Amino acid sequence: MGPILEIRDLCVDFCSRGNVLRAVKDVSFDLKRGEILAVVGESGSGKSVTSQSLVGLLPGEPLCRVRGSVKLGGREILGLPERELRKIRGREIAYIFQDPMSSLNPVYPIGWQIEEALRFHVPALKTTRARRERVREVLSAVGIKPDLADAFPHQFSGGMQQRAMIAMALACEPKILVADEPTTALDVTIQKQITDLLVSLRERFKMSVLLITHNFGIVAQIADRAVVLFRGEKVEEGGAAELIKNPQHSYTKALLACVPRLRDRSGKSAE
Ligand SMILES: Nc1ncnc2c1ncn2[C@@H]1O[C@H](COP(=O)(O)OP(=O)(O)O)[C@@H](O)[C@H]1O
Ligand SMILES: [Mg+2]
Repeated sequence: MGPILEIRDLCVDFCSRGNVLRAVKDVSFDLKRGEILAVVGESGSGKSVTSQSLVGLLPGEPLCRVRGSVKLGGREILGLPERELRKIRGREIAYIFQDPMSSLNPVYPIGWQIEEALRFHVPALKTTRARRERVREVLSAVGIKPDLADAFPHQFSGGMQQRAMIAMALACEPKILVADEPTTALDVTIQKQITDLLVSLRERFKMSVLLITHNFGIVAQIADRAVVLFRGEKVEEGGAAELIKNPQHSYTKALLACVPRLRDRSGKSAE
């Protein structure tokens, strides 16, 4: 079987008042089945735009123009009509963001929101009872007591909200989880809990993860491979450990220099 996601010559231009901003320039990479691939780069390098272009989350033309090819399990999905993209979002490619409240609705209980996603995407779960059972399952998978299904998002701490958002993303068993700076807003100990959670869920749910981050510390901890973006261009790609140990591009070296002391998973210093 080929890669789950094949991105080729992806270009994203934003046009406003006659100016064109080339946010993503001819970017190509694969997401292999079951891997955690990090997309790394400083703020503004085009990481989020790349990930949002996959399933039509960007504004349409004439504001924004997306070109190239994105294949999901061999099927071209770039430029599909909104009706088709809606089926892919959530069901096949689920997103989690830095700010959980961008995905959670403040006025409904967490469990109810997950149930809604199931009702839309997983018709095989026919009864309310079957859906509630799945809600309990995914809540406990992310370390939330299933009895908290009736709680509202504001009753949770930041880390718990992040877990709830991950539970919602997982509920429909997507093939791909896109995590856009999932831990940036969290303090360090909670960050580690969430990255550990992503690793365990990847295995349990057999997902591929596209992990977007500016933080090479997280890349070192959990990524299998990494793609480095600089001003919308891919400047480097490779195995995460190798890339950290032996960066080729001067920009990657500069990014790595921002991480105080990076140790690889065997405990040896990366430098
Ligand atoms: N909706 C938008 N309209 C215009 N420009 C945008 C929009 N979204 C992002 N950009 C621009 O695209 C570039 C890449 O942004 P982004 O992908 O969000 O960077 P990051 O790597 O920090 O995630 C930036 O210059 C940003 O200002
Ligand atoms: Mg971003």
